[in-house]
Amino acid sequence: MEIIKIKDLTKKYGSNIAVDNINLSIDQGEIFGLIGPNGAGKSTTINSLCGLLRASDGEIIIDGINMREDSLEAKKRLGLVPQEIAIFENLTGRENIEFFGKLAGLRGSLLKERVDEALEFVGLSDKAKSMPKGYSGGMKRRLNIACAIAHHPKIIILDEPTVGIDPQSRNHILESVKKLNKMGSTIIYTTHYMEEAEALCSRIAIMDHGRLIADGTKEELKKLVHEEEKIIINGSDISFNTLEEIKAISQVKDAQLIENSLEIITSSTQLILQDILFLLSKNGVRIKGIQVSEPDLETVFLSLTGRKLRD
Ligand SMILES: Nc1ncnc2c1ncn2[C@@H]1O[C@H](COP(=O)(O)OP(=O)(O)O)[C@@H](O)[C@H]1O
Ligand SMILES: [Mg+2]
Repeated sequence: MEIIKIKDLTKKYGSNIAVDNINLSIDQGEIFGLIGPNGAGKSTTINSLCGLLRASDGEIIIDGINMREDSLEAKKRLGLVPQEIAIFENLTGRENIEFFGKLAGLRGSLLKERVDEALEFVGLSDKAKSMPKGYSGGMKRRLNIACAIAHHPKIIILDEPTVGIDPQSRNHILESVKKLNKMGSTIIYTTHYMEEAEALCSRIAIMDHGRLIADGTKEELKKLVHEEEKIIINGSDISFNTLEEIKAISQVKDAQLIENSLEIITSSTQLILQDILFLLSKNGVRIKGIQVSEPDLETVFLSLTGRKLRD
């Protein structure tokens, strides 16, 4: 059953079109991933969806309620964990959750119960009486999550919740998202980390330059580039000149140098692998390992945007 519908959503900042006529439908119970590089328009989409930004055009329907007609009622169904941490530094952890809980209509013993539950859920019960200034980045992020979930929203939206935090908090957050989903919430998760989306999401939409360039299950997205593979060559002394020479091979769709690894996207591995190895050896590269893998979301993205750029 559809719980969110976004119809022809456009958001302009002056002449900059941050979100360009997006259509999306999200089903109840999904973990829906919105992925794309920085500046793609993910936060603008999310913030328009939550009514924090006024869309330039389009319609948003949440749980059957048109955002323009009854935004208050629609917002009750939403819990947003914004990209920029939004907590009060002069309130304790507990007081922060109470504040947002009250905003969402919780009162009295139910409020207390839900605040305790949210603190427990994000693993901050023992820090409840402390001010956030003593928290790590990850703990602040977890407090931000607690503030968004205390009122048991049907839909929880997390905007890049794992950026710039320690690995332990990151794992905690990823596990929490899965748990919240199992408990019945629909999740929208935005990230520019493809591997997070791959691990977490049941369905994914890919955004670039304000547009949706593809959406579907991981399998559906990978089918879009099913013939493509990623060759990863680990070696020493790979220069940018070598990278450029490899990019110039006509069957190479894309190539990049990540630390000591060359990552090459192609649908003709068998045809060009020998040429590539020859070229590397000619350029004095010492090869330490080679791996050929099936497409991942990174491959899908590179491939789709690459094609678009060349059009
Ligand atoms: N308040 C703003 N004023 C002007 N331009 C903005 C504002 N917020 C975002 N943008 C622009 O809109 C585009 C999309 O940004 P954003 O939605 O933040 O992308 P993402 O979340 O995918 O990184 C970018 O070009 C960004 O510079
Ligand atoms: Mg963003």
